[in-house]
Amino acid sequence: MTSIQSVLQETRIFPPPAEVVARATVSGMAAYEALCREAEADYEGFWARLAREHLSWKRPFDEVLDESRVPFYKWFADGDLNVSYNCLDRNVEAGLGEKTAIIFEADDGKVTKVTYRELLARTIAFANALKSQGIAKGDRVVIYMPMSIEGVVAMQACARIGAIHSVVFGGFSAKSLQERIQDAGAVAVITADEQCRGGKTMPLKPAVDEGIAMGGCESIRCVIVYRRTGGPCRMLAGRDLWWHELIANQPETCEPEWVEAEHPLFLLYTSGSTGKPKGVQHSSAGYLLHAVITMKWVFDIRPEDVFWCTADIGWVTGHTYIAYGPLACGATEIIFEGIPTWPDAGRFWKLIQDHKVSIFYTAPTAIRSLIKAGPELPRQYDLSSLRILGSVGEPINPEAWMWYYTEVGGSRCPVLDTFWQTETGGHMIAPLPGATPLVPGSCTLPLPGIQAAVVDENGNELPWGEGGSLVVKKPWPGMLRTIWGDPERFVKSYYPIEFGGRLYLAGDGAVRDAKTGYFTIMGRIDDVLNVSGHRMGTMEIESALVANPLVAEAAVVGRPDDLTGEAICAFVVLKGERPQGAAAEQMATQLREWVGKEIGPIAKPRDIRFGDNLPKTRSGKIMRRLLRQLARGEDVAQDVSTLENPAILEQLKAGV
Ligand code: WTA
Repeated sequence: MTSIQSVLQETRIFPPPAEVVARATVSGMAAYEALCREAEADYEGFWARLAREHLSWKRPFDEVLDESRVPFYKWFADGDLNVSYNCLDRNVEAGLGEKTAIIFEADDGKVTKVTYRELLARTIAFANALKSQGIAKGDRVVIYMPMSIEGVVAMQACARIGAIHSVVFGGFSAKSLQERIQDAGAVAVITADEQCRGGKTMPLKPAVDEGIAMGGCESIRCVIVYRRTGGPCRMLAGRDLWWHELIANQPETCEPEWVEAEHPLFLLYTSGSTGKPKGVQHSSAGYLLHAVITMKWVFDIRPEDVFWCTADIGWVTGHTYIAYGPLACGATEIIFEGIPTWPDAGRFWKLIQDHKVSIFYTAPTAIRSLIKAGPELPRQYDLSSLRILGSVGEPINPEAWMWYYTEVGGSRCPVLDTFWQTETGGHMIAPLPGATPLVPGSCTLPLPGIQAAVVDENGNELPWGEGGSLVVKKPWPGMLRTIWGDPERFVKSYYPIEFGGRLYLAGDGAVRDAKTGYFTIMGRIDDVLNVSGHRMGTMEIESALVANPLVAEAAVVGRPDDLTGEAICAFVVLKGERPQGAAAEQMATQLREWVGKEIGPIAKPRDIRFGDNLPKTRSGKIMRRLLRQLARGEDVAQDVSTLENPAILEQLKAGV
C-alpha cells in the first residue's frame, strides 16, 4: 500500500512546541519515561495510585487486579463508586457549579449552554424519570438519539441509577436497532422524534417502532421520546412517553446508585470478523479511570480549555471523549449536531472560532473531505485559540497530517494520532503533547502502563522494523470485560489460545520503527473494514446481501479509497441471469438500498459487481485475495491454477 510506504519512509520529526511542554501535565520525555518505569516496576501499584488520585470512591478498594479467571480480569473489584457522581456532583461540590459543562450548537447554528449545576439537575430529573418507569440497576437501556445535550443526559442518568446503556448510532437501520435491543434484552429505548442534519430533518422514532415490530423485543417496557423538532410523531399509548412530560415534577434529588467497580457501565455493539455485531461490555471504575487519565495525559486538559470531539455518541469516541472523559475532568466541551460541510465546508472552522476551541479531536476522513472541499478555508477563520489537535478512527496519511498541522494548527499545535478501539476504552498508543516528538503517520508510543507489542503468528515478539500483529501484553483497567452474553466469543476474539491466551489481540497489523520503536498501524488483519472510521464486518454485509431473495451468493472486500480510507466492494451472484448494462445498474441500486435498510447507509457498497459465480478453489473456498486485487483494479497476475473457474475473473473485473 502506497500510504503505508510513505509513512514508513517518513523522516519529518516535529518536537513538541516549547509553550506546550512548559505547561503540560506530562512535561518532557523524561516525565513520560518516568511514568512508564513506574508502571514497569509496580504495575498494580501504578494503576492503584491513579485510581485513588483521579476517581472519587464511595468505598475505597483494596484489591487492585484480580487475575484468578484469565482473561476475565477484574480491577479495583472491592471498591464502590458512581460514574455520574464522578462526572457531575463532584465538580459541583468542588465549586464548578457555574462553569459551562456543555456548549451545544444545533444544526441551524442555535447555541445552548448548560452549567455543571444545570447538567446535574437535568440528569437527576431524568434519572428519577427512569426510576419512575421501574428501570433499575443492571437493566439495559438502548439510546437511539441525535447529538444533543439530552443524549448525554440519558447516558449519565443511566449511569446514575446503575442501568447499563447501549447507544445505537442514529444512522443504523431499524433492523440493526432491533438486533441490538434483542441481544441486550433492553427494557427501554430512549429516542427523539426527528434529527436535524445539514438543514434537513429526518425521522428517528419510526425506526424504533419498526424495529420493535420486527419481533424479539418483548423485553421493552417503554419508549421515551425527546421532542427535538416537534414534527409528526406517532406515539403508542401504553408504551411511548414524552421526555418532557416524564421529567416534569420529578424530585430534585437522586442519590447515586453506588455500584461495585466492575458493574457494567455500558454495552457498545461493534463489528467483528464473524457473525453479528458483538456487545462490547465495559466496566464502571476501570473504564472511567482510562477516560480521565487519557484526557489528562493525551489531551493535557486544563480548566480554561474548550474541548471539542466531533464524534457521534453512537461510537466509542463519543462515549469516552464526550459523555464521560471531559465531564469527569470538569471541562467545558462542545456538542455539535450538524455536519462539517453544511452550510459550507467552513463550519468546523467557524465553530472553533466562535467558541474559542482549544482542543479539537476529529477523524482523518473528515480532514480529507475538508481538504477536498476547501484547502484554504481554515485561513479565513481565527483559529488562534487552538492548542492541541487530535485524530482518531483510522490511519492518518502524512499528507492529511501535514495539512492539519500547518493549515488548521498554524504549525503551533501538536497533532496527536491516537490509536485505540471500542474494546480498549480509551487511547492506547498516542503521543503526549508536551513530551513526544511527532512523526506524521505514526501514533508513536504506548501510554504509560500499556504494554503494546508486535508479534508473529505464534505470539512471539518481533524485532523492531518487522510487521506483525498488534497485541497488549498486560490487562489494563479500561479494557472490555467480555462480550455481552457470549463470554466464549470474548475469549476467542481477543485472547486466542494460539497466542497463549494471555495476549490481547487487537486485530490490527503494526510495525515499529527500527530506530525509534514508534508504532505505525497498518490496518485490520481480520475481515473488518474501516470505512470513514466506521467499523464494518465483511461477513455482516455479506449476510445482509444474501438475505435478499434475489441474491445467491456474495463476497465483500475493501479497497483503498482516498477519501474514506476504505471503500466497500461487493461481488454478487444472483439467483437468475447475470444482469448487464442498465439492468445491472438498476440491480446495484436496489441492492445498495437493501443493505442500507438491513444495516444502515454507512454499509452500502460503493462498488457492486455481478458474476455467474465467484472465484473459488477446487474445494469451493472463495478466493478473497483475488477479489481484493480485482476490487483495486489490479491485474490478477498471480498463479490462478488452483482456481476452479478462471473465466469468472473477466466478468468481475469491471464495476457496474
Ligand atoms: C482503527 C475507534 C490507525 C483500527 C476509536 C482499530 C486506527 C479500529 C486508529 C477501531 C489510528 C483507530 N490509526 N488505525 N489512530 N484509531 N483505528 O472500535 O483499525 O470504532 O482496530 O474505535 O479503528 O475502531 P473503533
